[in-house]
Amino acid sequence: MQLKIVETSLRDGHQSLLATRMTTEEILSIVPELDKAGFHALEVWGGATFDACLRFLNEDPWERLRLIKALAPNTKLQMLFRGQNILGYRHYADDIVDKFVQKSIENGIDIIRVFDALNDIRNLKSAVDATKKYGGHCQIALCYTTSPVHTVDYYVNLAKEIEHMGADSLCIKDMAGILLPNDAYELITRLKQNTKLPINLHSHATAGIMEQTYMRAIEAGVDIIDTALSPLSGGTSQPSTEAFQYVLANTEHDPKLKIKYLDQAAAKLTLIKDRYLASGVLNPKALTTNPSILKYQVPGGMLSNLMSQLKEQNAMGDYEEVLKEIPVVRKDMGYPPLVTPLSQMVGTQAVMNVMTGERYKLVPKEIKEYLKGLYGKAPAAVNEIVLAKIIGDEKIITHRPADDIKPEFESLKLKYKDLARSDEDILSIALFEKVAIQFLEKKYSTKEKIEVEEFTMQIGGKRS
Ligand code: CO
Repeated sequence: MQLKIVETSLRDGHQSLLATRMTTEEILSIVPELDKAGFHALEVWGGATFDACLRFLNEDPWERLRLIKALAPNTKLQMLFRGQNILGYRHYADDIVDKFVQKSIENGIDIIRVFDALNDIRNLKSAVDATKKYGGHCQIALCYTTSPVHTVDYYVNLAKEIEHMGADSLCIKDMAGILLPNDAYELITRLKQNTKLPINLHSHATAGIMEQTYMRAIEAGVDIIDTALSPLSGGTSQPSTEAFQYVLANTEHDPKLKIKYLDQAAAKLTLIKDRYLASGVLNPKALTTNPSILKYQVPGGMLSNLMSQLKEQNAMGDYEEVLKEIPVVRKDMGYPPLVTPLSQMVGTQAVMNVMTGERYKLVPKEIKEYLKGLYGKAPAAVNEIVLAKIIGDEKIITHRPADDIKPEFESLKLKYKDLARSDEDILSIALFEKVAIQFLEKKYSTKEKIEVEEFTMQIGGKRS
């Protein structure tokens, strides 16, 4: 069976290595080659890309998507979608989820990969229903982690439930890069026996084991793998795309990617990468093989965030200690998989525990909310003593968190009618209120200035 490949350099590749800072212009410069290379899909949107566009790059993420789509007529575009969190860090109302899915598909997305940080499938339902409703391919991702509760049986049961929910394919999302080769073989074999869904494996090269894991996954019959073009591969990113084309060429799994176009895109991407290496955005540490993540289970994006967080506070000396604190916090929290937003929350809590020298002396608001059930159900029981220390006798909810959230879209539309010029603008505001408002104010004020200048020039032209 031909292996399908999803190219990730334009989303996870630069999110893992370049703090998601690649600009739309840089991205567009390699899309035509990638579009001709024969990928199953290009992962180009979602995850942290939306936030980074608005917050750091002063770019409209919707415009980026439309421009990519225009240059990629032959290849499906894929995005990563955090269930009820969409691309933000809290739970949003169902109407925002629905509208966001609709507009993502309208602007060019074909495949929506939906996950919930806790694998609480109640948090996936709105996004799955909307994807089906608007004609997208819905891939549900299971966050892979290891813990006393995260067994193969646990994943098989989840897979059956998501097949029942209407997923078009299933992804094993190993965001930390901790899936060992033989575990992958067993997991995929069991999943294949128990569901009919195509299976996609997503992982990270951080620990130096992932090429071997992918090969065992291929032996077990995995349908799709995620890789990144060589300049943005390895380290905390995905294994390299070219490697799998060379290794599998002329076998029954031959992905049939066109090396010529991969090379052309890689040459351009190398120049881009070199600029980020020179400016310090790309920390060589993120490219170094790091088997210690097999012990700490920390995903690539989280490692680089942690490094910059500690660097800012001149506390890089605490790096190892914080890494050791993470599994402790995770156990206390009932073994949440370390994926956005839980990875940031657990990471921040670990930093606070180390910096204050006392566990849970300082607690971020998000951790409090998590313990109150506002993110969904923890995979295992949380530490009762920690729970009592942090939330005392405050109320804990056990129903789906979004059941308590009133529709938001129409009221936002009314509130920002003078600023927003499209439903897409409203959605940006819904997710990243202040950051999006600042961006839109800037965007429309410069646009008006340019329009005025053009108008003046035209008048001038007529006069002369
Ligand atoms: Co990833």
